[in-house]
Amino acid sequence: MSSTERFAEASPYTKGPQEHHHTDHRHDSFLVQCGLAERFPGKVIPDDLAVLNVALFALGRAGSIHLGNILRNPRLRLKYIVEADENKLKRVQKEWRLPDSALVTPAQDNIVFQDKSIHGIIVATPTSLHEGLVTRGLEAGKAVMCEKPISENYEGTKRCYQVAKKMGKPLLCAFNRRFEPSYLQLHDQVQKGVIGQVHMMKTVARDSPLPSANYLRISGGIFHDCAVHDIDLVCWVSGEYPTHAFASGSAFIPEIKDLKDQDTVAIVLKFPSGAMAMIDLSRNAVYGYDQRLEAFGPKGMLQAQNERPYHMVNSNVTGEHEVPINFSFPSRYYQGYENELEHFCNIMQGLEECCVSGDNTLRIQDCTL
Ligand SMILES: NC(=O)c1ccc[n+]([C@@H]2O[C@H](COP(=O)([O-])OP(=O)(O)OC[C@H]3O[C@@H](n4cnc5c(N)ncnc54)[C@H](O)[C@@H]3O)[C@@H](O)[C@H]2O)c1
Repeated sequence: MSSTERFAEASPYTKGPQEHHHTDHRHDSFLVQCGLAERFPGKVIPDDLAVLNVALFALGRAGSIHLGNILRNPRLRLKYIVEADENKLKRVQKEWRLPDSALVTPAQDNIVFQDKSIHGIIVATPTSLHEGLVTRGLEAGKAVMCEKPISENYEGTKRCYQVAKKMGKPLLCAFNRRFEPSYLQLHDQVQKGVIGQVHMMKTVARDSPLPSANYLRISGGIFHDCAVHDIDLVCWVSGEYPTHAFASGSAFIPEIKDLKDQDTVAIVLKFPSGAMAMIDLSRNAVYGYDQRLEAFGPKGMLQAQNERPYHMVNSNVTGEHEVPINFSFPSRYYQGYENELEHFCNIMQGLEECCVSGDNTLRIQDCTL
């Protein structure tokens, strides 16, 4: 009998309907969004969860990602957008046909805080404005999701969490990478002991495209603006905070040197268990937004790798060519930003605890000082 015949199986239809694989997370979330599957299987969820009214502050690089995600999320109603650039407001109004009343300049933003129907605000303004908006939001009884860093300095962040505690309102620091499916998988596998005790972690976070000099001027510097994500990742994955840190940086780009900032940085962290982390940062990777995370231990290694916008391969006499990796953070982390917003909805509806605690945020910010 030929090998093809020898290994022939019965028709797959005889085995009953095929289950979706447990990694098929997008399919699962489509079903949840259609109300065809439970968001938290086994958990009793009230039938009458209200739509959540939210306000978005700023339509810059980060805010525009949140805008699309808010408008596409059936759990949310975007009641206000506050933005200093009126041209941006007009363009958004035209595209999404939002009512005039929804578009607010910073001078009119009291309307947001005084509106009792607003459940939460999402802050994506330049960092220097975070603390003021976060505290006003919390004091007005709103839940707050704020882009990292929560404040320009440790004391400011501490004040924000003190207000959150006093008001009994959640404050989510938007560490979006924790919600990226591959990073989340790596984290969960490490927690399950798949690689055994963590010996070494590595992150590569090389920015693309090169941020504008205007942005860098107000960014707070590469440690505060970029390293904060990587330090958060390695602390989150290992479940501990470092006791020793070594960092060194260089400025190869003259404009960045003039700002007394660096464009290339190496950080080594050592944790109480003996685990170590190496963080490799750059402001300018010409081949795309290079974002990788690795954990290594006695039982093996886990790697979360770069993704590509298309999976097409062009083979010719010079070899096999793929398109570059995702070029920017909105592309690389689009799923993470969506999941982060879902988490904020869950927090507002009391379905989940905020996964980034005040203590987390403060300890991470402390490391960047
Ligand atoms: N988590 C991430 O991946 C990520 C990525 C980029 C930026 N960020 C953070 O997001 C924040 C914004 O960064 P960005 O790159 O989007 O900046 P940006 O310069 O692209 O945009 C800032 C926007 O804020 C608007 N603005 C200024 N003052 C305002 C006010 N008083 N009220 C409302 N809007 C106002 C500006 O007109 C502009 O549209 C920063 O804190 C940054 O650290 C986070």
